[in-house]
Amino acid sequence: MSAATDSNLFQKLGLKHPLIVAPMAGGPSSSDLVAAASAAGALGAMGGAYSNAAAIEAFAAQVRQRTDKPFSINLFIPHSIPDVAPDQLERAVEATAGYREELQLPPPQLSAPYEEDFDVQFEAVLRIKPACFSFVFGLLPADHIRAAKKAGIPLIGTATTPEEAKALEDSGVDAVTLQGFEAGGHRGIFDAHASDPAIDLRDLLAQSVGKIRVPLIAAGGIMTASDVRAVLQAGAQAVQVGTAFLACAEAGTSAPYRVKLLATPERRTRTTRVFSGRFARGLENRFMDEMETKGAAILPFPAQNKFTRDIRGASTAKGSADFLSLWAGTGKGELWQGSAAALIDRLFEQ
Ligand SMILES: Cc1cc2nc3c(=O)[nH]c(=O)nc-3n(C[C@H](O)[C@H](O)[C@H](O)COP(=O)(O)O)c2cc1C
Repeated sequence: MSAATDSNLFQKLGLKHPLIVAPMAGGPSSSDLVAAASAAGALGAMGGAYSNAAAIEAFAAQVRQRTDKPFSINLFIPHSIPDVAPDQLERAVEATAGYREELQLPPPQLSAPYEEDFDVQFEAVLRIKPACFSFVFGLLPADHIRAAKKAGIPLIGTATTPEEAKALEDSGVDAVTLQGFEAGGHRGIFDAHASDPAIDLRDLLAQSVGKIRVPLIAAGGIMTASDVRAVLQAGAQAVQVGTAFLACAEAGTSAPYRVKLLATPERRTRTTRVFSGRFARGLENRFMDEMETKGAAILPFPAQNKFTRDIRGASTAKGSADFLSLWAGTGKGELWQGSAAALIDRLFEQ
């Protein structure tokens, strides 16, 4: 695809604003939020990573009942299933036994598979034919790229370094999301075991603009209209915003997560592997603080994600934010509690 055609991606989608309301798997990206974002002229995005094919299809149908505007679907690129040795699992069980007792949970049972079957999820995406398909944690295999192109679905990959952005471009994607170190949620680093390159959005843009020919979408810490203007001026063609939408009326953010976000306006965050085995940025809380002292007890991604799911679920049910993954970025500013449409207008006011 030529650069000239590429740069029309967002125009071709007919968006009023070059904004993707970030895919936020695990609840925040409710079908109400996706539909509201798309109806308001941005691109709503479903975070489908933790959903099976039937749930992805049901979600897409719900969005389509509310709006005929374009929306996107996002999945996690799978890697080989990690080995979890019995002694490793034993350490993980021991390190979390106190929490399970406190939350009145039975001892955990952990077995592979640790995540949804990507190929089955991807087949659902092909059937749904969303306006875009985006992904994170690596490259989409060539046969999947071919299938998406044949179905006419534009592709957006996620990069945390200029090298990842180049690899995505070479693989044939239509746009690249540059995810700065400021971003809330999982870091899109291709290699789950690598240390974090920790490149902030401004540097990532500076190192990529002019070198990557496909459109660049800036993500990480964007909260205000002046943040949006700054990254568009720095060469991004669109922005992807997550945290700013977490307290919106339509967001599916759980009650204790919302309460914690609003109760701590300074939002102290850091990146951690304790929840899923992969680096992700979230609000500091008890699980993060305590588990980080037990480094050897963290299982590899995505085994740790499955392993901690019961703890996170019970914490939500109890109304406690102590054991939740409270993903949030470093952006400053009060969280908007009105409608997503009003926040979108605010992000693009002059
Ligand atoms: C709660 C939450 C969940 C997220 N889940 C996903 C996801 O499923 N897929 C994805 O590509 N990015 C995910 N992200 C990252 C966003 O795509 C984006 O990079 C990030 O929100 C941008 O930074 P910001 O939160 O400071 O706006 C998530 C972010 C948050 C805050």
